[in-house]
Amino acid sequence: MESNECTRAGQDCSQTEDELVRGDFTTSKLGTKEYWNDAYRRELQTFKDIGDVGEIWFGEESMNRVLRWMEKENVPGDAAILDIGTGNGVLLVELAKSGYTNLTGIDYSAASVELARSVLRTENICNVEIKEVDFLSCTGELGCFDVCIDKGTFDAISLNPENTEEGKACYVQALRGALKENGLFVITSCNWTKEQLLQMFSQGFDFVKELPTPQFQFGGKTGNIVTAIIFKRLH
Ligand SMILES: C[S@@+](CC[C@H](N)C(=O)[O-])C[C@H]1O[C@@H](n2cnc3c(N)ncnc32)[C@H](O)[C@@H]1O
Repeated sequence: MESNECTRAGQDCSQTEDELVRGDFTTSKLGTKEYWNDAYRRELQTFKDIGDVGEIWFGEESMNRVLRWMEKENVPGDAAILDIGTGNGVLLVELAKSGYTNLTGIDYSAASVELARSVLRTENICNVEIKEVDFLSCTGELGCFDVCIDKGTFDAISLNPENTEEGKACYVQALRGALKENGLFVITSCNWTKEQLLQMFSQGFDFVKELPTPQFQFGGKTGNIVTAIIFKRLH
């Protein structure tokens, strides 16, 4: 594991492992299925009305960052890729446009699934599978992927007002089930620092690298707006 350097401004570097994993933010409605269903129902209507795909979490650069890394890693075009909590499916559109042919997106929000399917259809992308699945209770249901991508979904799960700790543990277990041995996991998070993610994914995963993300300075400390980490699944 890397040294316990701070990647968020103001983070207390003397935190215990337990404090690192629990984090220092409160839960919120962004951790509930109702919130996401309402949000994507509205975005679906807007998409139908004016063709706007809605919010791209962490901005377009967060997708480009992942795509650049995949290109650099020579991830083959036919690699099985899972987008966990796909939202509007725009990341899948970008992956398909970059030549990836074996793509699956899942989301537990029925409205997100409908929106992602509509967005892909409008782009004439027909070979992407979109499934309505709760990642936390999908053991064995999804099959084995070479690459799993998460942009904001683990963050949302971490904010669930109920069973937050259990949710995070279920996520790690589900991820182990969904990834092939030596498969790669790319996570972009705005809630967790590098140290916290290394701690949370320490069982069954190896740290591969951190992708550079924009930095800011506050109170004499430097931090990252988002953290983007690559892990490899061990056997
Ligand atoms: C912050 S949004 C990010 C959406 C998308 N990844 C993006 O980058 O635009 C979080 C997404 O995770 C989904 N989500 C949250 N918990 C989930 C779960 N247990 N299983 C599947 N999807 C989940 C939400 O419905 C929502 O689409």
